[in-house]
Amino acid sequence: MISFPQLRLRRLRRTETIRTLVRENRVDVSDLIYPMFVVEGRGVKQEVASMPGIFRYSPDQLPPEVEEIARLKIPAVLLFGIPQHKDELGSSAYNPEGVVQQAIRIIKNSAPGLLVITDVCLCEYTNHGHCGVVINSQVDNDQTLALLAKTALSHAEAGADIVAPSDMMDGRVQAIRQELDKYGFADIPILSYAAKYASAFYGPFREAAESAPQFGDRRSYQMDPPNVREALREVEQDIAEGADIIMIKPALAYLDVIRQARSTFNHPLAAYSVSGEYAMVKVAVHQGWFNEKQIVTEILTAIKRAGADIIVTYHAKEFATWLATEG
Ligand code: PBG
Repeated sequence: MISFPQLRLRRLRRTETIRTLVRENRVDVSDLIYPMFVVEGRGVKQEVASMPGIFRYSPDQLPPEVEEIARLKIPAVLLFGIPQHKDELGSSAYNPEGVVQQAIRIIKNSAPGLLVITDVCLCEYTNHGHCGVVINSQVDNDQTLALLAKTALSHAEAGADIVAPSDMMDGRVQAIRQELDKYGFADIPILSYAAKYASAFYGPFREAAESAPQFGDRRSYQMDPPNVREALREVEQDIAEGADIIMIKPALAYLDVIRQARSTFNHPLAAYSVSGEYAMVKVAVHQGWFNEKQIVTEILTAIKRAGADIIVTYHAKEFATWLATEG
């Protein structure tokens, strides 16, 4: 076996051209999904305090924004709605005139080529902030399924290209698949948040989406962070129920879960780099402690290296802008 001094691993690191030639993983704009918050009303474009550079838009403010996203060649957006009216059963989630339904129609009109993926969940729409129907202070799994299916159908009817359930109820993928098929949407894929952990990294999102639970927490439905075998069971179950794309969330603290899901399953695999991951980067960059382009590139590449094909990231626009200006 050849060894030092004949073997020198540094040879392949000598110039950027050589490094580029032997690079094993790279992130492309076509891998990215950009999450967006749409709020009911008119004339609203309001920055989220905990997420600099991320805004909440009313539907009428979306056209210039989504045209720019399409120009940057980002293939897809993931929509979250913030309704005016919240109630026990999250009825604004499946209102045909709801904020997400309006937003879908406007985006499809102004950027027809941009894929519109919708988050299917009730937490932004319920007055208690939980992701399902609450009965005796418990989130009731089975009663929630019909409402999630109704929500997904209403998104598809409004023109959504892909629906993405994020609630973590058992059986939701099957319930949504059946509902979509029944009403003529057999071609609409389901991207399931298959393994979604009860994570502290969602803090900034809950401010952005006004979706913090008003009592208790989400640990009875979202996954316990120490578990990885259980995540594989979740993924297996969602695949059995008909998920087309599976997702692990959060990303950076769960690279091992992404890796194991990649090694175990052949479905397209997405990872969601969540609000807290974004906020940590922004704070440190603001302090001057990180070079932003380098840190974001390193993080996104690490998520790909772990095995994700697709990355949901709030950095999508800035990353696409950097790539475009590199020439
Ligand atoms: C709603 C939902 C959440 C996120 C995506 N969908 C929040 C939660 O479960 O509390 C988090 C996204 C992020 O932090 O960027 N079910």
